[in-house]
Amino acid sequence: MKVGFIGMGIMGSRMVANLQKHGYEIIIFNRTQDKATALITNGALWADTPGVVATQVEIIFTMLANPEAIMNVALGENGFLNHLASNALWVDCSTVNPSFSRQMAKEAQNKHIRFLDAPVAGSKNQAEKAELVFMVGGNATDVETCQPLFKAMGSRLVHVGEHGMGTSLKLAINLLLGTSMAAFAEALILGEALGISQERLLKVLLGAPVTAPFLATKKEKLELADYQAEFPLQWMQKDLHMVAIAAHEVGVAIPVTSAVKEVYRLAIQQGLGEQDFSAIHSFLKQGSSNVSRISHKA
Ligand SMILES: NC(=O)c1ccc[n+]([C@@H]2O[C@H](COP(=O)([O-])OP(=O)(O)OC[C@H]3O[C@@H](n4cnc5c(N)ncnc54)[C@H](OP(=O)(O)O)[C@@H]3O)[C@@H](O)[C@H]2O)c1
Repeated sequence: MKVGFIGMGIMGSRMVANLQKHGYEIIIFNRTQDKATALITNGALWADTPGVVATQVEIIFTMLANPEAIMNVALGENGFLNHLASNALWVDCSTVNPSFSRQMAKEAQNKHIRFLDAPVAGSKNQAEKAELVFMVGGNATDVETCQPLFKAMGSRLVHVGEHGMGTSLKLAINLLLGTSMAAFAEALILGEALGISQERLLKVLLGAPVTAPFLATKKEKLELADYQAEFPLQWMQKDLHMVAIAAHEVGVAIPVTSAVKEVYRLAIQQGLGEQDFSAIHSFLKQGSSNVSRISHKA
């Protein structure tokens, strides 16, 4: 089966590599062609535009930064939606807000294209090891069609419900991810200021019942203050913005998440957007040492 894939970033490039391992013929496009070089060497076919991908496949995946990127690639000039055959299937794995997923489902339906929102839990390592969890919104028959492809890239599939329900569950998860990371960073900074070494704090807090298990995977980054991106901080801020849009649409107040979202925005303004989102620790630490210098002077 020929599969189209658009978006060769941290996640998409690894997902494509796993589809290749399972023998799928893949046609790929990425805004920046350089990022596709290794996959092309490994047999993926390059298309010059998303539209050209669409003319050759029955299923097309997107793994893109945000709604703007998806709009460009799907509906922009040379976008793929106008070029897919009737009854083809579009699976969007990007993290976006549920009403945007429903809007894309409608755009697809207007062109007789089937749609699934299928965002993933798991980061760079899980994408590499085909251990992603797909949270899917859409028609059960379409989920069934994609099952072997999800299996090639992931370890678990949750069919949550109708269009927009996959992205709904994903946003609930990323609300926890973003706020937990920021709270943990603050706990480390406070503990150190109170005289406990970072080594001891990490030893006691990681694995403690109050700490989210994923934080153990950030230990080395925190120890070395080396924040090479697994999940770029700018996309965490974007995801919390997606959460804010979704919460606004259903009339839910998210005061804690909203405050944390703005902390990530400030970190982006300090140039940390392309670092891993755990670099929020470095941003907060910098802020607290500035405050401590000022209070010592006073
Ligand atoms: N990394 C993670 O741990 C993780 C985990 C779960 C979900 N996600 C979600 O997965 C998606 C991709 O994340 P990632 O980590 O792979 O990010 P990434 O490495 O930054 O890749 C982003 C992709 O989007 C493309 N893109 C960005 N803006 C574009 C535009 N205006 N027009 C066309 N293409 C555009 C990029 O193209 P270029 O290469 O040309 O920049 C690249 O292919 C995001 O929605 C993210 O929230 C990420």
